[in-house]
Amino acid sequence: MQHLAVIMDGNGRWAQKRHLPRLMGHRAGADALDRTMHWCKEAGIKYLTVYAFSTENWKRSEDEVSGLMKLLSHFIKSKEKELVENGVAFRVIGRRTDLSEKLQKEIAALEEKTKGGDFTLIVALSYGGRDEIVRAAERLFEKWRRGNMPRREDQVLTRQDAASPIDEQTFASCLDTAGIPDPDLIIRTSGELRLSNFLLWQAAYAEFYFTDVLWPDFDKAEFDKAIASFSKRDRRMGGRGK
Ligand code: FPP
Repeated sequence: MQHLAVIMDGNGRWAQKRHLPRLMGHRAGADALDRTMHWCKEAGIKYLTVYAFSTENWKRSEDEVSGLMKLLSHFIKSKEKELVENGVAFRVIGRRTDLSEKLQKEIAALEEKTKGGDFTLIVALSYGGRDEIVRAAERLFEKWRRGNMPRREDQVLTRQDAASPIDEQTFASCLDTAGIPDPDLIIRTSGELRLSNFLLWQAAYAEFYFTDVLWPDFDKAEFDKAIASFSKRDRRMGGRGK
């Protein structure tokens, strides 16, 4: 497996069960992310994508939103050295212009400093799959407007309707995840059985693993269970299999 993606759900319920503020749940969630990153590296996984803040999460209370933003900013500042030393490339996907200018700058600086790491941590921030697809369409349109699209004569026409210069590869190259392979496995914690607008395009052939464990309680045993379950799947990708 090259790429694991995680919907880190259940931080709020974890805190509630302990009569703690929701933000404490998110803090415990950040620790769970740290541990998971470590297990991924050990397992030889090259990409870990985590859903940290969705385009819908802006509807939460002002306190929770600002607490999460502070947590992210703290993560970025406090992890720089560790990420660089451990060869972890940091990358953000999502509508980053929604974020404060300060946070945008911190993100860009960390992305620059960690470039070239052999393991990539991708954090989805103000992210929505539909929003990403719409922005990709806008980028594509912009390319076309500037005359940066390949001319039809240059294309190998393989489909009946191939008069269009746009194919899946061209489209994917305009997504935030350009250059990143699709996720092989998507884990969602806390018992919800939904994709919730996460990696809509990229999840086309992903396997899924759902667990009732709340994200802050996600441990090595659960990680191993998810990986073992994945390795038993017969991934035909639409073909006829072995
Ligand atoms: C979902 O739980 C979780 C989130 C909306 C935030 C996830 C963020 C972190 C784990 C913070 C750490 C991330 C980084 C990159 C430092 P929920 O609040 O929806 O839980 P609930 O469904 O139980 O209320």
